[in-house]
Formats: sequence, structure tokens, C-alpha cells
Amino acid sequence: MRGKAILVGEHFVVENQPAIAVALNLRARAEVTESSSSETIIISENLKLEESFSKDNVNEKSPLYPIYYAKKLTLEHLNLDDYGLKIRISSEIPPASGMGSSAAVSVATIAAILKFFDESLDKEKISKLAYEAEKIVHGKPSGIDNTISTYGGAIIFRKSEGFISLKSNFERIKIILADSGLPRSTGEMVRQVLSLKKKYEKIMEPIYHGAGRLAIEVAKAIENNDFETVGELMNINHGLLSAINVSNKKLEELVYTARENGALGAKITGAGGGGFIIALSYEDRCKMIVEELRKLSPRVIVCDVSKDGVTIEDN
Ligand code: MEV
Repeated sequence: MRGKAILVGEHFVVENQPAIAVALNLRARAEVTESSSSETIIISENLKLEESFSKDNVNEKSPLYPIYYAKKLTLEHLNLDDYGLKIRISSEIPPASGMGSSAAVSVATIAAILKFFDESLDKEKISKLAYEAEKIVHGKPSGIDNTISTYGGAIIFRKSEGFISLKSNFERIKIILADSGLPRSTGEMVRQVLSLKKKYEKIMEPIYHGAGRLAIEVAKAIENNDFETVGELMNINHGLLSAINVSNKKLEELVYTARENGALGAKITGAGGGGFIIALSYEDRCKMIVEELRKLSPRVIVCDVSKDGVTIEDN
């Protein structure tokens, strides 16, 4: 299951504006086997952590709890009583980065459990269950992360309407992601933005409306292969994100460095306040942008857009 990048519309999407997301060629994997006891054993290779959960012993503070919760929801969906499983997770997606790591891990876990019980890999079902699981990770998710992670490709998403896959050709395009090195919590950022919106409702309304309009134009530009326009609109979207106070000095520095070195567009991606910025670039300009970003960022990742969403690998 894929990591994702929001090209435009994060935060605004929480309040039912359209947004655009692409799946990245970064994967989260889950392997599910029978547990020798009635307990659920969860192993995270990235966190180097192993923990057991059972009906009467659930540590909700554990970083592995969302995986247990995704398992619980999936078993409930299958009308199964508790069942001891061993779930091994490995992920190429940096956590708390804005790249949808929690949603991708949920999608992977749910799909692997369905496969374990020989159930069909119904994407709608997987995405819905992952959405429920996301609620405990960050309170009021829009649903865009679980959707793009499940379906892959490029989508336009609206909370009240679901998503449409865009006809896209990202072959000439690289997605560059640069880490600000600043930690942040998506849930906290979403809460902050919603309280600012509530405080200044009349001022925020046109900003939200503009962001929604902008996402529709980005969808058209993607379908027309017009990445100059996509980039320009990403820059405008970054301005709107600064207006709702999710940027900071470090994120601005990264965004302007990417732009000054040839990016088609650059902006915060995900919840902001920290995490990563995203830059869109033609392949031939990518090296220069990456070199300059590396001087400022502890981690710069170059990705392609992935057509795949959730997939099953046979071992
Ligand atoms: C998180 O990847 C994007 C936000 O818009 C939250 C959400 O859509 O659930 C900030």
C-alpha cells in the first residue's frame, strides 16, 4: 500500500473542499500469520518494536495500537470473534511526514488480514475500514489518505462525494520531498486550523472556497498534462496554507529553495507545522533541486507517482 502526497488541498479537504492526491512509489507492507496464542502480536520492523495485545490487555498509548485497532475493526467486519494473529509491518514511508504513513499501514494491515481469511480484496471495503482506523490516529480525517493509499494513481477527492481517478501521465515528472526535521502531529494541526477557521469564519470562507476552486483547476491541468500550471497552482496553494498558519520559517526556506532551483511548484504537503515539503519537477531539473535541498534538510526523497494502490504479494 502506497504512501501519498497531497498535491493541493490539505486541510481545506477536511471541511469538504476538493483536494488532489497522488500515490508514491513508497510502500508499507503487512504480513499476517497465525499466532501461537490467542493474543495479537504486532511487530514493527521500522520502530524495532514488538508488542502483544489481547481483549483484556490493550495498551492504547502504544505506537502499535492503531495497527491492533485496524485488526479489531477488520475482524468485527468479518463477524469473527477475537483471533490470535501475528502482524509484521515494514514501511518505506517516513512516519509523521505528511506522506500518509498511518493510512498506508492500516490499508496494508486490513488487506493482509482479509487475505489471511481468504476474503476478497474489495477496495471499497478496505478503504472504509482504514478510514475508521484513521479516526483514532487523528480525530477528524477527511478520508483522502486511506483513499489514495488504497486506489493509487492520481485522484480528486471530496469528503461528501468520494473520489474520481484522474487520467494522468507523470512519466516526465519527479516528486521531491524534503524533511523540515520538525516533528508535528496531524491531529493537533487539524484542530488548530479548525479553531482558527471558527474564529475568523467570514475571512476563512473565501480562502477555503478558493482552495477548492484551485483543486478543480489542478485536476484539469493534470488531465491536460500541463505540469507548469499544476506547479503554479501548487505555489498559490502554499500561500493559502501559510494564510491558515501551518507554515513556518523552515518550511518556507525549503519551499523557496526548491522554487529558486527550478521546481515547477513547491509547497507544504500534509498537515504542515513540520513534516515535509513537496516539489514538482521535470526529471532533468531534479538533481539541482535535490542538491540544494540536501544542504538544508536531513532527508530528501525523490519519488515517482505510482499507478498501484493496494496489492497482494504471494510469498
Ligand atoms: C493529512 O495528510 C491531510 C490533512 O488534510 C488531514 C486530512 O485530510 O485528514 C491535513
